[in-house]
Amino acid sequence: EKGGHEYFMLKEIDEQPTALADTLRGHFAGGRVVLDEQRLSDQDLRDVDKVFVVACGSAYHSGLVAKYAIEHWTRLPVEVELASEFRYRDPVLDRDTLVVAVSQSGETADTLEAVRHAREQKARVLAVCNTNGAQIPRESDAVLYTHAGPEIGVASTKAFLAQIAANYLVGLALAQARGTKYPDEVAREFHELAAMPEAVRTVLGTTARVQALGRELADAKAVLFLGRHVGYPVALEGALKLKELAYMHAEGFAAGELKHGPIALIEPGLPVVVVMPSPKGRAVLHSKLVSNISEIQARGARTIVIAEEGDETVRPFADELIEVPAVPTLLQPLVSTVPLQVLAAEIARSRGYDVDKPRNLAKSVTVE
Ligand code: M6R
Repeated sequence: EKGGHEYFMLKEIDEQPTALADTLRGHFAGGRVVLDEQRLSDQDLRDVDKVFVVACGSAYHSGLVAKYAIEHWTRLPVEVELASEFRYRDPVLDRDTLVVAVSQSGETADTLEAVRHAREQKARVLAVCNTNGAQIPRESDAVLYTHAGPEIGVASTKAFLAQIAANYLVGLALAQARGTKYPDEVAREFHELAAMPEAVRTVLGTTARVQALGRELADAKAVLFLGRHVGYPVALEGALKLKELAYMHAEGFAAGELKHGPIALIEPGLPVVVVMPSPKGRAVLHSKLVSNISEIQARGARTIVIAEEGDETVRPFADELIEVPAVPTLLQPLVSTVPLQVLAAEIARSRGYDVDKPRNLAKSVTVE
């Protein structure tokens, strides 16, 4: 059942192209993006004036990624919030608020309570869920299923990539309903998304170097992760994977925050993973990150750089260079997360830990 893999997680990492393709399948028909159960009409989508994404853990990171795309495509304000924080404050919600509740299991207690709270306040709730008939989709106004298949490893991998894809479908459906994107633009965005399973497959074909690096880093005391824009949530996700699997101190930062504190942590030999944006996309983001890397390298950090293939400018600053295929900026998390999953799994294996069942954690957190 592990399909020749030592751990379910490793199998699930390999299944990511299929998880993405299955999640996107059927969602573009007649020149339009279509959501699953259209319990939210086009008029409902047109009326939306604010979006909240609520979730926990990796699902929350998928929401952070989606914020960049949904705001860009729809010009709607998008707030992304941990379900455990959202439910205990008094968020401003009304019937024109769309709350997107993202949950692999569909049973996470805080996310479920956030859904209940949102519905009491008359907000419309769309669940993005990987588990048919789970509680969160049952209590939501509408559901968009991710089709990642069952995820056994406690660490989320294929479900996370599928969540990003599903959140993007929500963004495109909103843009289409609101007319903030022309139909041909929506079609183009969808087709770019549909090309991602192939790009992820390419990344999966080049993980041997990352595994070797994981073995080298097995005794590191801490690892930092830096990114900007959509690379920032990728940095958070990379750090979470490392914490939960390898029990290693790991932190993700927005690279722009370095000088506001984290740079004090940099010392000789400290591994720092940097998630680079494409040099062809947002040139300014790229050059800012290059200068961040040069600063940390000058202080002796061991720089591990995830960059687009052919990105020559970054090479002098990369002690280790992990190349990923060129894809549009907003889609980069789908390729740049994969090496970080492999890295965390390999560090954990090298330290002799059970990659599928990290200590103290459960696959679905049904108590607070
Ligand atoms: O089932 P959910 O998506 O609601 O779960 C949310 C988190 O518990 C989950 O993503 C957790 O953070 C993973 N173990 C991360 O790998």
